[in-house]
Amino acid sequence: MPNSGLNEMVVRPPGETGRISVRELAYADLPEVLSIERRSFTGPWSPGMFVAEMSKESTLALAAEIDGSVVAYLIMSRYDEAWHLMNVAVAPERRRNHLATILIRKSFGLIGPEAPVTLEVRPSNRSAIALYEEIGFRSYGARKGYYPDNGEDALIMWRGDPAAAGVPEGST
Ligand SMILES: CC(C)(COP(=O)(O)OP(=O)(O)OC[C@H]1O[C@@H](n2cnc3c(N)ncnc32)[C@H](O)[C@@H]1OP(=O)(O)O)[C@@H](O)C(=O)NCCC(=O)NCCS
Repeated sequence: MPNSGLNEMVVRPPGETGRISVRELAYADLPEVLSIERRSFTGPWSPGMFVAEMSKESTLALAAEIDGSVVAYLIMSRYDEAWHLMNVAVAPERRRNHLATILIRKSFGLIGPEAPVTLEVRPSNRSAIALYEEIGFRSYGARKGYYPDNGEDALIMWRGDPAAAGVPEGST
């Protein structure tokens, strides 16, 4: 995990009254993470999926904490030249306070400002797409029938040029 430089960061975004710290996500956080995960997704990750991603050398996993409770998390993994934003979620009662923005910007700082990052998102997930566009991701095509629960396509987004990550033009 590229956590050098991951000293705990304390910030206070607009709308939040508590002190927010960003730190490495730990296995001990999983009960709180799973509670947020299950309130955030129709097809939530299982505990085993979190453990599998978090145990990889090439994974960056961050938690945002307020008053000792995890309120948001992010998991990003590197495959070949590109980082994949695998999961990001904010506790429903804490949304629109820039917590996801803070986590994503922190991850960009840790992987390097030029590192290409990609993700898949449901086209119906307007709030996530608005967040990703706001933070600099752009759409680069779709994956047909990507989501097994309803067969929905995935919108593919990139931050940076996919060609810089060795992705041939037109193949996204
Ligand atoms: C998507 C999600 C992570 C956003 O987290 P968040 O902390 O509320 O997002 P932020 O406050 O950082 O939003 C940053 C910007 O994104 C846009 N945005 C975020 N949520 C939005 C919404 N519901 N409607 C419209 N724009 C939205 C806005 O431009 C916002 O800036 P603003 O509040 O100053 O207008 C959160 O809604 C969530 O956990 N959803 C469920 C899980 C999920 O869908 N994860 C993404 C999977 S691909």
